[in-house]
Amino acid sequence: MAQTVKGVVAKAQGQPVTMENVIVPDPGPGEAVVAIQACGVCHTDLHYREGGINDEFPFLLGHEASGIVESVGPDVREVAPGDFVILNWRAVCGECRACSKGKPHLCFDTHNATQKMTLEDGTELSPALGIGAFAEKTLVASGQCTKVDPSASPAAAGLLGCGVMAGIGAAINTGGVGRGDTVAVFGCGGVGDAAIAGAKLAGASKIIAVDIDDQKLEWAKGFGATHTINSRKENAVDKIKELTDSFGVDVAIDAIGLPDVYKQAFEARDLAGTVVLVGVPTPEMTIELPFQEIFGRGGALKSSWYGDCLPSRDFPMLIDLYQQGRLDLDGFVSETITLDDVEEAFHKMERGEVLRSVVVI
Ligand SMILES: NC(=O)c1ccc[n+]([C@@H]2O[C@H](COP(=O)([O-])OP(=O)(O)OC[C@H]3O[C@@H](n4cnc5c(N)ncnc54)[C@H](O)[C@@H]3O)[C@@H](O)[C@H]2O)c1
Ligand SMILES: [Zn+2]
Ligand SMILES: [Zn+2]
Repeated sequence: MAQTVKGVVAKAQGQPVTMENVIVPDPGPGEAVVAIQACGVCHTDLHYREGGINDEFPFLLGHEASGIVESVGPDVREVAPGDFVILNWRAVCGECRACSKGKPHLCFDTHNATQKMTLEDGTELSPALGIGAFAEKTLVASGQCTKVDPSASPAAAGLLGCGVMAGIGAAINTGGVGRGDTVAVFGCGGVGDAAIAGAKLAGASKIIAVDIDDQKLEWAKGFGATHTINSRKENAVDKIKELTDSFGVDVAIDAIGLPDVYKQAFEARDLAGTVVLVGVPTPEMTIELPFQEIFGRGGALKSSWYGDCLPSRDFPMLIDLYQQGRLDLDGFVSETITLDDVEEAFHKMERGEVLRSVVVI
């Protein structure tokens, strides 16, 4: 029988989110219903509410989550009721052009639930990133459930479901940061700090954090930043050059998604270095760069979707590192809140007061 649960919905562009009754169908073939335990508030949720992703309102927000599988559809084998899982937005198809070339982390046809969750009047909901986890329960494709060690804290584990994985992967998988590399990370929110933590795990020699907020820069040090720059007070590119014998960094990561910041990342990069864009631009943004320098500097300009992760490979591994004390996932949890507090959490994010507010159910 379909169930009615509470969920946080963005009904119209720029409007405050509201708590709604959400109808969650029983899982069909290839689907699972998950009882959500924790879900982080990511900037991408705010992008959805602002109409910056697409205009398929109403959205059931929340996508950085962990929980317990409650029920599965008839043919589901990879997870079973009672499993502790992190939800992912990359349930790979195994058949698309990328998958068939052995690159499932780039899958072009990722799976989501086939059935729709709805409001009580039958209006179909668009779950954020195919997840919709600011809700007591959600319906996903079974491949979106990645089983991990159940002794991990749900609030910390859930963050691997999006922002923290995106940041760590932007540094390690997309940027290819290795031992001795110099790295600059622009934007020290949850994603940027995760990129800093990833660069540290990979053995970077210098990790330069750039933000416009001194508090964020202070927190960045806790994740491994060796130097910090407030780009409101100093010219970030000049300062990065100064810190790198005037060469620039091997890997420059834009964890904000603003044209001006991307330009700074482009200019702060050494010859043959890599620029990684992990922040999400909005549809009206454009950028102009000196074409000759794109050629002349060599290297790579890359985008990082979800940190080029493969959830089945990366989530259990990162949970292991967390359990060993080598990855401070708890440090990203600024506060735990309830479903009623999501709108206020957006404001706290905008005011720069938190890395992650995490809804705990
Ligand atoms: N590519 C992906 O797969 C992926 C996944 C998750 C999130 N994201 C995106 O990553 C971005 C960051 O997400 P978040 O949750 O960390 O956001 P956040 O709001 O917590 O952090 C953004 C940080 O950037 C800083 N900032 C803002 N403007 C700046 C400027 N001009 N110069 C320097 N610093 C500036 C802010 O002070 C803040 O610390 C968002 O665009 C989000 O949508 C991408
Ligand atoms: Zn595929
Ligand atoms: Zn996210």
